[in-house]
Amino acid sequence: MRILVTGGAGFIGSNFVHYWLDRYPDDQIVAYDLLTYAGNRPNLAAVEDRIVFVQGDIGDGELAERTLRDERIDVVVNFAAESHNSLAVVDPSRFFRTNALGTQTLLEAARTVGVERFHHVSTCEVYGDLPLDSDDVFTEESPYRPRTPYNASKAAADHAVRAYFETYGLPVTITNCSNNYGAFQFPEKVVPLFTTNALDDLELPLYASTGHKREWLHVLDHCSAIDLVLRSGRPGETYNVGSGVEATIVEIADLVLELTGKPESLKTIVPDRPGHDRRYLLDATKIRTELGWEPAHAWHEGLAETVAWYAANRAWWEPLRERALVEETAWR
Ligand SMILES: NC(=O)c1ccc[n+]([C@@H]2O[C@H](COP(=O)([O-])OP(=O)(O)OC[C@H]3O[C@@H](n4cnc5c(N)ncnc54)[C@H](O)[C@@H]3O)[C@@H](O)[C@H]2O)c1
Repeated sequence: MRILVTGGAGFIGSNFVHYWLDRYPDDQIVAYDLLTYAGNRPNLAAVEDRIVFVQGDIGDGELAERTLRDERIDVVVNFAAESHNSLAVVDPSRFFRTNALGTQTLLEAARTVGVERFHHVSTCEVYGDLPLDSDDVFTEESPYRPRTPYNASKAAADHAVRAYFETYGLPVTITNCSNNYGAFQFPEKVVPLFTTNALDDLELPLYASTGHKREWLHVLDHCSAIDLVLRSGRPGETYNVGSGVEATIVEIADLVLELTGKPESLKTIVPDRPGHDRRYLLDATKIRTELGWEPAHAWHEGLAETVAWYAANRAWWEPLRERALVEETAWR
């Protein structure tokens, strides 16, 4: 199989490239990435000689089309996105440009050239947020109620992907996944931010609503879900991908401090960013029953491994810190 992995130099995309080549060493991967501040070529260092790398924008239709044709791509997996909710608050336009219009441009290239599958990687956040104290969960049938520019731009992309299936018969699938953690995550996101700050005895900035929760999934479990959907998922379908394991922001801070042996006094309260969602929780029954997917990583062990990875890979994250475009303390 010849796979175009857009956003292949980012967190989940690069994990997916490693995952795929481990399992399917004869397949050909073309990583297609604009290398924004969040894209990092060293994420692919271990597999550089086994892949083709194209530096390009998913919003560049001509390059996308040429790459699909020249590389004889069978399957597109679209991870490329602006992914940081906090950055979206201060610079929403770049999110709509890449996530909405970029995805549509890539769909158009795939329709023109023809591919066996266009898989789009989306998020639980398109469904909006849930009250902290309810039994509600998001299913694939839940209405789209995005509340932030990031979520809205991802929702727009999902609608475009569905439209290309219904209107043009492009064989698409979508996964809507909960929050990921693991190696190679840019240190602007909460788990690596707390971990790298703790390792350097810096403050851990907790949003004032410390009880807000997220559902956490190990990045390699996300990769195995996409693998199953590519192989056995039905075109035109959406699959929710979540572990069912929730943790509040303060629980994450406490776990990271415990794992790094740092004091509780590093926790610092900062104001919530505008539009801070309270809670997301997915019902992943469909992918579990229809495709037999199960996450393989338990939260506490997975987090401990992840924290250990950041402790051992200071040379990877130290240069990235300076590239971050927004500070969580900016809401002060
Ligand atoms: N991180 C999570 O918890 C999570 C959860 C669910 C879904 N997702 C989705 O998974 C995908 C990957 O997320 P991530 O956390 O790896 O993000 P990331 O920010 O680490 O990586 C995104 C990658 O896309 C590249 N990129 C950005 N704009 C581009 C463009 N116009 N053209 C080509 N490449 C471009 C960046 O250079 C970067 O390498 C995103 O679509 C995101 O919405 C993420």
